[in-house]
Order: sequence, then C-alpha cells, then structure tokens
Amino acid sequence: MIRLGVNIDHVATLRQARGEREPNVFEAACMVEDAGADNITVHLREDRRHIQDYDVYYLKRNIRTHLNLEMALSKEIIAIALKVVPAQVTLVPEKRQELTTEGGLDVIKEQAKIERALSQFKKKGIKVSLFINPTGLCIKKAAAIGVDAIELHTGRYAESFAKVKYKFQLEKLHCAAQLANQLGLGVHAGHGLNYENIKPVCALPSLREVNIGHSIISKAVFIGLFDAIKKIKNIIACEYSLCQSQ
Ligand code: PXP
Repeated sequence: MIRLGVNIDHVATLRQARGEREPNVFEAACMVEDAGADNITVHLREDRRHIQDYDVYYLKRNIRTHLNLEMALSKEIIAIALKVVPAQVTLVPEKRQELTTEGGLDVIKEQAKIERALSQFKKKGIKVSLFINPTGLCIKKAAAIGVDAIELHTGRYAESFAKVKYKFQLEKLHCAAQLANQLGLGVHAGHGLNYENIKPVCALPSLREVNIGHSIISKAVFIGLFDAIKKIKNIIACEYSLCQSQ
C-alpha cells in the first residue's frame, strides 16, 4: 500500500497569522492520525514562518504514527533534527523568499553536505529521503550517496495536469520511480498533489509514500480535516488496488 504523509504546516500558518494558540497543531495531527494517515509531515523552515521548534519536539513525543521532518541542510536545523530524532528526515532546498519548496535538491552541488548530514542521521537511526527532481542523474547520485529514499518532486507534473497535458511529466516520474527502485531506493512523491492528479500517480512503480499538504488542508476548510483525509485515503486505496489487479 502507499503510505500517506500529511503535511500540516498550513495549520501552523493559520496559528502564526494571529500569533495565538489556535488552531492547535497537535490536535490536527491527532485528527489526521484518527482518519488513517500514516505519517505526520512538517517542515521546520529556517525563517520559522509556520512550524516552530516546540511543535517538532511535541509532535515527536506525542504522535502515534511517524514524524517526517522536512528540512534544509542548515547546521542549525540539522542540530535540532539530531535532538528530536524523527523517524525520517526529508532534505529539501530552501529559499527565504519562496512561497513553497520550488524545486528539488541540487544533489551534485550539495553532495558533500548531504553526505555529512547522512552519516550523522544514520548514527541516530533516522531514515533519510532526498527531495529531488525526477531525473536519472539525481537518482543515480542519491543512490551513490546511500540515502534510504527519494521523494520525487511532482510540482511540474501537477502544473501540467492542470493544463491537461501531463503525459510527458507522468512518464518522467514513471522512469524516475523505476530507476530509483532498481537502485534500491524507497520511492516517495510529493508537491502539488490533489484529489484529482493523485490518481495517475498511484500507478507509479514501487511508490511507497506520498506527502500532501495544501490540497488536503484546502479541502478541510469545506468538509473538515477528518473527512478530507478519509477522502484522499480512499482515492489512494482504490487506485492502488486497481493497479494491483491489472
Ligand atoms: N513534499 C515536500 C518535500 C514538500 O516540501 C512539500 C511542501 O511543503 C510537500 C511535499 C507538500 O506539498 P503540497 O503542500 O503542495 O501538497
């Protein structure tokens, strides 16, 4: 089955907008878990625009599922991750001005930094996933570095899906997933996925995890968080079993 990681950063965004205690990020995590999500995903950004350090510590201690911490390769954030010891870290590129993570990690340029961080995380038993663009070069590099998994950036695919011309981007994801699996990497995907464009993604070979934030929280505004999770879980389960039966 494909694991569902739910990114709850936007719950913290709402809380930070008023600088108050509501909505409570832990309460959101509990509801997300009750509705059947497999991982809680949060991004501790260097500018702390949504998730705060105390959220990460509190979630790690109190959630029932697994914490996936998205983070940049910054010394400060690495030090926090080593104290928190989440089940998994997903290393992402980060720019101060961006609205969201815009592209995959530059695995070539950042190789030395990734290797240093990886050896520290390995000692603590933390799984490491790299958020990368779906290219053969990035995947081969990720495998050579020795990370556990890659998360394929589905942003381009999601944009092309909205324009109904998505076959090429889907094919790129397909080839990337196949190669990653052949090289022994766990295959994850995320960014821009929603209740429609997730369907073809569920057929990617060896896909083990998707991480979804914006569309789930947007849906939750209208139907509630619990039902928003149930709905996407059902879609993933149906699409997955359809692929298995073919
Ligand atoms: N995966 C990664 C690595 C991300 O950085 C993000 C955005 O924080 C997501 C998944 C979720 O993207 P979205 O909010 O578009 O679903």
